[in-house]
Amino acid sequence: MKESEFRALEDTIRKHQYLYYVLNKPEISDKEFDSLFQKLIDLEKKFPNLVSPNSPTKMVGSDLSNEFEKFTHKIPVLSLENTYSTNELLEWATKTGLDEEYSVEWKVDGASIVLYYESGQLETCVSRGTGGVGDNITENIRTVKNIPLVLPKPLTLYVRGEVYMNFSDFEEFNSTQGGRYANPRNLTSGTIKHKNSSQVAKRPLRIVTYDGFLVDKKKIKTHKEMLSLLEEMRLPVSTDNQIVKGKKLSETIEKFHKKKDSLGYPTDGLVVKLNDLGKRLELGETTHSPRWARALKFDALMKESIVKSIDFAVGRTGKITPRAEIEPIQLAGTTVRYATLHNQDYINELGVGIGATVKVAKRGEIIPAVEEVVIPPKEVFQIPEKCPSCGTKTIYIDDSVDKFCPNKKCPAREMNGLIFFCQKKQMDIEGLGDKQIENFYNEGIIKSIPDIYDLHKKKSELEVREGLGEKSVKIILEGIEKSKEKDLLRILPSLGLHEVGHKVTELLIENDFDSIDSIISEVKKKDAREKFLSIHGLGDRTVDAIIQQFQDKELLKLISELKKRGLNFNAKKKEKSSNEIFKDQIWCVTGSFENFNPREKAMTLVEFYGGKKTGSISNKTTHLLAGDGAGSKLEKAISLGIKIVTEEEFLQLLKQAGYDT
Ligand code: IVH
Repeated sequence: MKESEFRALEDTIRKHQYLYYVLNKPEISDKEFDSLFQKLIDLEKKFPNLVSPNSPTKMVGSDLSNEFEKFTHKIPVLSLENTYSTNELLEWATKTGLDEEYSVEWKVDGASIVLYYESGQLETCVSRGTGGVGDNITENIRTVKNIPLVLPKPLTLYVRGEVYMNFSDFEEFNSTQGGRYANPRNLTSGTIKHKNSSQVAKRPLRIVTYDGFLVDKKKIKTHKEMLSLLEEMRLPVSTDNQIVKGKKLSETIEKFHKKKDSLGYPTDGLVVKLNDLGKRLELGETTHSPRWARALKFDALMKESIVKSIDFAVGRTGKITPRAEIEPIQLAGTTVRYATLHNQDYINELGVGIGATVKVAKRGEIIPAVEEVVIPPKEVFQIPEKCPSCGTKTIYIDDSVDKFCPNKKCPAREMNGLIFFCQKKQMDIEGLGDKQIENFYNEGIIKSIPDIYDLHKKKSELEVREGLGEKSVKIILEGIEKSKEKDLLRILPSLGLHEVGHKVTELLIENDFDSIDSIISEVKKKDAREKFLSIHGLGDRTVDAIIQQFQDKELLKLISELKKRGLNFNAKKKEKSSNEIFKDQIWCVTGSFENFNPREKAMTLVEFYGGKKTGSISNKTTHLLAGDGAGSKLEKAISLGIKIVTEEEFLQLLKQAGYDT
């Protein structure tokens, strides 16, 4: 085996990775690629001394636990000054020069990182952190599929980019996690700090790069040239970037605006930058941001205020969410007194603390958030080491950027667990709203879920309580009684177990775990893990959580107490047709339909006629029902040779089975 043959094989693999992940134009089949990759793995085993440190096989991560060291950036990792309207942006551009050229780019919403290539080899990947110092997250980032580990030329190049996730990839992955992530951005920032890089490798992260610093100064005069160089180095650059004269900015921004809702990935605005690097130098930068660029934030209703104090909410899972109390402001017709600060990383990145002047934004339904610091505080806020409710030392769990109170008996956790249990989406107990439970909890009337079902014993005592009365007590008790009719699909997620939400419960039930007893007896078996993992859609983390929790004595006791009180832990049998035309078939659905809206309606029919459904395409999937606007699922299904069925064909099949369309 000659070393040159080894290197040639690596290069071939790199080329195909680039064609597949960056250009989206594969030239060989997945199978052919897999066999090349396997060949390299085998060779590396045989000739360990020839393995290169940046071999393509090094993109799969390792199970070793990562501790992230701090890394002082070799370049200033500046952030951007925001503008909030096209006019404000144009005002800046007018001052900067309307005859100049500008680059207009999406501001992709993920996590900001820097890739350090030394002589063409990816050496270090670092989060932005404070801008001066970040976390060395190399092991995690090198698993991102569209990042080249080796450049086609031995350049020393430092690259800035944003790691992000497509909406469709996010949804697919999140559905295997019981929907625990709020949005792609949260999942991305959690993932890049995951302690186990082989887990990161399984998550569909991508990068887009938008700037580079060439150490051996080549004659690069414009941003455009730099972007071309990045492309030449096989780094992914957005194909939407536009270089336009200042005079054309307004219409260009409008075009971007029109397109923004149809993008497959999250953005929170645009970035407009001067193209001429010489001009950039003339303008220079402040300590935080360059004078030659501005972000234009979309749809953000923003106002300035001052942080008066910071407190925390401790949720039912123990998650601690810091919240700033601000001088009240009017935003979108409501008075805003509080704004979320998410977590310590977010606080650090913004540099928020008590006394800071901040910009607060409200977007859509989401609670207002502190978005920016205008005048920094004396001190950046630190979330205390102890739970504000029970005083237990707080911890980080897995890849979470959030801090948690680990005490299951923490009063705030218990109370929020009860509130969760009674909510509309869970057991839907009328009369037991947040405030009522808070009162009952604080007075020791309801301390645990079984207490809810014993409440009838205190009927007369409650009726004479201030603010209640016979009528309200009747509503509450009837609501409680009615909740006993709910089945496993509702009660299991209501218990608030880790990783066991509606989606996971649904998957369990579909796969014949149709009572809580069947789950409890399964976890005791030797091959329980394999059995649960064989359910498509359940990942390692969820399965481990199920096995661990369903052996917990306290949970088993809770279940038996609730059974004693008449709660139903069996799943309702799904109605099925005797005409099982979809028997032994596994269907997936994508796109939108004229007759099935939401599209899940189509999957209900698949099940009615004896088939199974799945949320994602794998080699087990037999059919894909593809509607308008089908995207990556369709591509994947085609590449796996899965049968593609159109809406019309599907209707035809149903008709034959006797369904009245
Ligand atoms: S330019 C000095 N361009 O937005 C210029 N940033 O604070 C620095 N971002 O988290 C940034 N897309 O990672 C630039 N096309 C783009 C961007 C972009 C996303 C992120 C960046 C950082 C934040 C800017």
